[in-house]
Amino acid sequence: MDTIFLSRLQFAVTAMFHFLFVPLTLGLGWLTAWFETRYARSGDAKYLSITRFWGKLFLINFALGVVTGLTMEFQFGMNWAEYAKYVGDIFGAPLAIEATVAFFLESTFIGVWVFGWGRLSRKAHAGAMWLVAFATNMSALWILLANGWMQRPVGYVLRNGRAEMVDFKALLLNPYGWIEFFHTVAAGWVIAGFFVMGVSAWHLLRRNQEELFKRSFGAGAVFALGSALLLAGVGDMSAVNAAKNQPAKFAAMESVWVTRTSAPYTLLVFPSLKGDGNAVEALKVPYALSLMAFHSPSAEVKGLNDIPPQDRPPVLPVFLSFRTMVALGGLFILLSALSVWLWYKDTLLNYPRFLKLMLYAIPLPYIAIQLGWIVTELGRQPWVVYGLMRTAEGVSRTITPAQVLLSLGGFTLFYTALGIVDFWLLAKYARKGMEA
Ligand code: HEM
Repeated sequence: MDTIFLSRLQFAVTAMFHFLFVPLTLGLGWLTAWFETRYARSGDAKYLSITRFWGKLFLINFALGVVTGLTMEFQFGMNWAEYAKYVGDIFGAPLAIEATVAFFLESTFIGVWVFGWGRLSRKAHAGAMWLVAFATNMSALWILLANGWMQRPVGYVLRNGRAEMVDFKALLLNPYGWIEFFHTVAAGWVIAGFFVMGVSAWHLLRRNQEELFKRSFGAGAVFALGSALLLAGVGDMSAVNAAKNQPAKFAAMESVWVTRTSAPYTLLVFPSLKGDGNAVEALKVPYALSLMAFHSPSAEVKGLNDIPPQDRPPVLPVFLSFRTMVALGGLFILLSALSVWLWYKDTLLNYPRFLKLMLYAIPLPYIAIQLGWIVTELGRQPWVVYGLMRTAEGVSRTITPAQVLLSLGGFTLFYTALGIVDFWLLAKYARKGMEA
């Protein structure tokens, strides 16, 4: 195992762990703010109990998730020094804004929210949670604008062997970053909706505080349905965006080998393990792939055969991750639509099997969100900055495989412990139910 492989593995492990914590906070903040606003407006004590319950789970997840982000930035300097030198001038601004504006705003107003009970008016206290939710999502924006630059570099010149920013506005308005932002936050909102529905379902199955958990379930279901529809809509834009800017990624997502116009979508397809074509290819829907890729039935879709092997991403994991993510996206629309219907008809309690299903569905959006990142990041390979710098060129020159192995082991142990504590605390406080 060489330094490059180990450094990539370490970044993947830390990023994936980080992304187990982050997405729930992206959505649970909005839901908590919504519950508290209902309390602030009506003075209904039931909404106060609901707010406190979900707010506590938000805080647990936030507190444990914060630290996992820090190690990723440290790795730029430790494992990816060449990359850090290359992109430092570009990344400085968005990452600094993320830390100083979004993250500070979030942390400050979390403090106001935690210590402000009884000290602030009901409306001002609810306002603090809206600001927390807004800042959490803004944090994601700056990170994703930075990531968007790696996917589609804009507003730079190459000088002295590094990229230097000449047009900050271009980075700010980079459509790649914005599409990633909306797709990612919508995915986080789906996670929060399913989390609220799943925990509520657990209590409803036991007939605990039925009224309170029905209200929670309903809000979670409506939020999840709206977000899942938005997610699919932006997902479609993401696919067009990938086809336009990173044809190799799109070809790997769909396992397309031959370049052609009016390309059909193959329903049953499986890439050959040798990586030189498809082992299975059947059931073609005429024009559908051109429509998906460019919203035009006659558009040309590039195949992997026309991309040099050294410039192709690994096809099988990108293909499998993409198909599974999209299938799960469809399932989420179906499950949340059913949930909204049963809640609206007030018949949730008549369907214990469905409630159980919603409890077991909690991990599914977490799986989908990890698969999404596999598509985006593995699909960009072999580039770390698309078209400009190869991943292998970005690694630090002075570290040894043994050093990376040591930090990888340390991170994995630490993060696993953190993950277990997060899960245990969330389960403990979720099971406790709401204060009367
Ligand atoms: C409903 C159908 C969906 C479609 C058509 C879709 C499409 C895509 C595409 C094309 C990418 C790669 C973007 C790129 O690298 O340029 C992507 C990435 C991603 N997807 Fe999906 N997706 C869908 C569902 C989901 C679901 C259900 C989740 C999670 C709950 C999800 C989470 C993500 C994440 C986190 C990324 C990485 C960030 C990004 O590049 O936007 N997606 N998706």
